This record gives sequence, structure tokens and C-alpha cells, in this order.
Amino acid sequence: MNTNIKILIEAARKVAGHSQAKYSNFQVGAALLSTDNQVFTGCNVESSSYGLTICAERVALTKALSEGTTDFDKIVIYAGKEDYCPPCGACRQLLFDYAPDLSIILTNGQDYQTHKLKDLLPLAFEDSKLKKK
Ligand code: THU
Repeated sequence: MNTNIKILIEAARKVAGHSQAKYSNFQVGAALLSTDNQVFTGCNVESSSYGLTICAERVALTKALSEGTTDFDKIVIYAGKEDYCPPCGACRQLLFDYAPDLSIILTNGQDYQTHKLKDLLPLAFEDSKLKKK
């Protein structure tokens, strides 16, 4: 396994331990690698008003952006279950807005599979659609 991926899987696994998932009991960790080799992690944070829940991926992304890092290479998503945790639709959109060329790595801690974000969000809405002619 590629060293970078190993490090990212370990980081995602570790941050999943901080998950605030008392309603779903579904713990998720994400580790986002920037093109300048920094790792930003995030876990899901749930609310008693369920719709306010934030996914692990968006926590990692907003942490990175708010620290001034804007270019990304890949994200690892770990859910500690046998099955993989593909990113939800909201996360796909926000990740696409900031990193359309991102690689998405899903892991259960042992095996992993890699996808291109572009393949997971065909016919994506994007900022170019907002530009007036
Ligand atoms: N969750 C994530 O953190 N990432 C995803 O891409 C899918 C879902 C979280 C949100 C919620 O806390 C729990 O998993 C169950 O939906």
C-alpha cells in the first residue's frame, strides 16, 4: 500500500474516534490531503436537530479552507464498518465546488477502493453555471 494512503487511513481511523454520533451511532472519519502534503481531518458532528448534523468530509474540508489551504489531492473516508461509507450527496457537491479533481478513497480499515469525485457526481452543478452571459 502507498505510504501516503496508509498515513491517511490511519489519520481517518483515529479521528473517527472523536465522532459525535450519539443519534446514529455511525462514526465517520475523513482525512483530506492537500497538494502541498498537509493532512486535515474531520469527524461527523451530530445535532439533536438532526438536519444540523455535519459529515466528516465537510468538517475536514472546512477546516482546511479556513486555514487557508485550497488545493487538494485526495480524501480518505473511514466508517469503521465492514462496508465502505461513500460520501453523501451534500459532501460530493461541496467537495466538487472546491476540488473537482479529487480522488476519493473509501476504506473499512483493511481494504480500500479509489474513485474519482467526478465519477461520483456526474452532470455536476458548478460555479460556471452561475456566470451571466
Ligand atoms: N456521515 C458522514 O459523516 N459522511 C457521509 O458521507 C455519510 C454520513 C455521517 C452523518 C451522520 O452523522 C451519520 O454519518 C449517519 O448518517
